Amino acid sequence: MAKLLYEGKAKNVYETDKADELLMVYKDQATAFNGKKKEILPGKGVLNCQISVLVFDYLIKNGIKTHLIKTLSDHEQLVKKSDVFPLEVVVRNIASGSLVKKFHVENGMKLREPIVEFYYKSDALDDPFINDSQVHALKIADKEEINYIKEQALKINQLLIPFFAESDFDLVDFKLEFGKVAGEIVLVDEFSPDNCRLWDKRSHHSMDKDVFRKHEGDLVKTYQEVLERLTNH
Ligand code: C5P
Repeated sequence: MAKLLYEGKAKNVYETDKADELLMVYKDQATAFNGKKKEILPGKGVLNCQISVLVFDYLIKNGIKTHLIKTLSDHEQLVKKSDVFPLEVVVRNIASGSLVKKFHVENGMKLREPIVEFYYKSDALDDPFINDSQVHALKIADKEEINYIKEQALKINQLLIPFFAESDFDLVDFKLEFGKVAGEIVLVDEFSPDNCRLWDKRSHHSMDKDVFRKHEGDLVKTYQEVLERLTNH
């Protein structure tokens, strides 16, 4: 049995025979509010994996470097081992979630331009907001790396807005993670409705983890619809 390297909330990461490759296994667990709300939802892991593969394949085709090597099954991916920056990189197009809570702006307000925010990845600290100069001074990433990460995050946003719009979704906001492989910064982790906000273009209903956070319906059915709409397009 492969050695478990990291047990996450939605995924486990295992060692493989190769020192520079890892196995990422999607789980059926859904969590919110930093793990305070937790449930097993059968089928969720497979859906997240499949949606993430669609998004990553599209990004790779459009020149974005990622850790993905190949998909091994409907819930397993082989990825390059990377030194992950302990940063959650959030991009926003429309005001929602913590931005609304912080600034009391209207939920759904279209932003003048996309926002990029960094949060320091720490369950113990509840992922606090961290600014560029703190990231640099605390040696989490240097200035050049910070600029590159922001540039990539905005490029990914410009690629994903039309990708989701074609399936009648507004891409409200999302979270990315980056790591370093042999000196090169690449996109890591996943892209699924667990880490983005997708609103139906007509009804403006949430088609993402807010359904679970706000008890708005069946999360697995919602993710199934997201996958179908993305695949059928
Ligand atoms: O909560 P907030 O509005 O800051 O979240 C912005 C985006 O980042 C949302 O799409 C949310 O799902 C995602 N996020 C995440 N993991 C976190 C925090 C936020 O995927 N730990």
